[in-house]
Amino acid sequence: MDKYYLMAPGPVTVAPDILAKMSEPIIHHRSPQFSAILTKVREDLKYLYQTKNDCLILASSGTGGMEASVVNLLSPGDKVLVIRGGKFGERWDELCNTYGLKTVNIDVTWGKAVDPKEVKKALDADPDTKAVFVQAHETSTGVKHPVEELGALVRERPNTVLVVDAISALGVYELKTDDWGLDVVITGSQKSLSLPPGLAFVSISDKAWGLVEKARLPKYYFNFLKEKKAMGRETTAFTPAVSLIIGLAEVLRSIRTTGLPSIFAHHRRLSEGTKTGVTAMGLELFSMAPSEAITVIKSPEGIDGQNIVKILREKYGITIAGGQAQAKGRIFRISHMGHLDEWDMIIALAAVERALNQLGYPVEFGKGVAAAEKYFAQNG
Ligand SMILES: Cc1ncc(COP(=O)(O)O)c(C=O)c1O
Repeated sequence: MDKYYLMAPGPVTVAPDILAKMSEPIIHHRSPQFSAILTKVREDLKYLYQTKNDCLILASSGTGGMEASVVNLLSPGDKVLVIRGGKFGERWDELCNTYGLKTVNIDVTWGKAVDPKEVKKALDADPDTKAVFVQAHETSTGVKHPVEELGALVRERPNTVLVVDAISALGVYELKTDDWGLDVVITGSQKSLSLPPGLAFVSISDKAWGLVEKARLPKYYFNFLKEKKAMGRETTAFTPAVSLIIGLAEVLRSIRTTGLPSIFAHHRRLSEGTKTGVTAMGLELFSMAPSEAITVIKSPEGIDGQNIVKILREKYGITIAGGQAQAKGRIFRISHMGHLDEWDMIIALAAVERALNQLGYPVEFGKGVAAAEKYFAQNG
């Protein structure tokens, strides 16, 4: 088998010991053995989330966690506010429209973060707004939205909750669920948790549970009240993704041992080293509020970013990501999430230099790599 590098912003590379753990024989999900694992995982999730709130585990991709939040919080015709500054902001809008909610969008130019003043203005204009939907990190643009400020704004409004898609943020950099007043926080297994895709997680504040109890949108599988009841019996409402949860138990144990500050520092270091490298090549960053999760790079004038991605994948066995929707061809994205280290970043940078050279962009071989190596050496 050829050597293969996965450096896309999800799914991400999974460590071999976790893969091995997940390949152990399946245990029954209603057994005391599995209940003990589940209970420990639920406690450890609170550490990751920095919360005292219950964290539900769903067998679905991240979008399932988003849809579950919409249907469990709201009733037909409710008014909601959506921050729409990328593909995943658009997904909030699509989900809310699917369920007939009255949606007001704050449209943000791709590459920029939302201005909290705009959100305050919209909430002041409509105090009946039930929920504000936002991404902590908009993966399609590499932008971090100011969720701490949004939390402060929403916290003082008794009838409104803040719903944060933190699918590519939680566990990557600081995100304080309770201290920042984030009512509902969603994440997935295939990003910072470095697991395969298939699990979604949702934390729910007391204020949000208040809405859940009254919500009338139709739902069957994604039912927070049923899950909460099952949690009381140390189980899940439906068959859980047993092997993934066994892998998750290992990952969360390791996160607690390493500590969140060191994990955040690791992502920051990979991100800064990579950003230093691409800038030294003469390339520009796309995001004006860059994150530690990924580096998003503008394709140079006249070069289609999809071709850079294609050369890396087909010639060098390296999977990074291109742009989505309106950013297609204009950007390419390198992940810092997953089982990756500084040497993987050096490989990605070297491959980008080679691909750009092949596409006719004037690169000086080693310039980006040298700058990144210097950064990594000085920031050990
Ligand atoms: C910020 C964000 N939201 C939502 C999603 C959708 O998650 P999934 O593809 O797991 O359904 C992604 C996936 O890339 C994401 O990065």
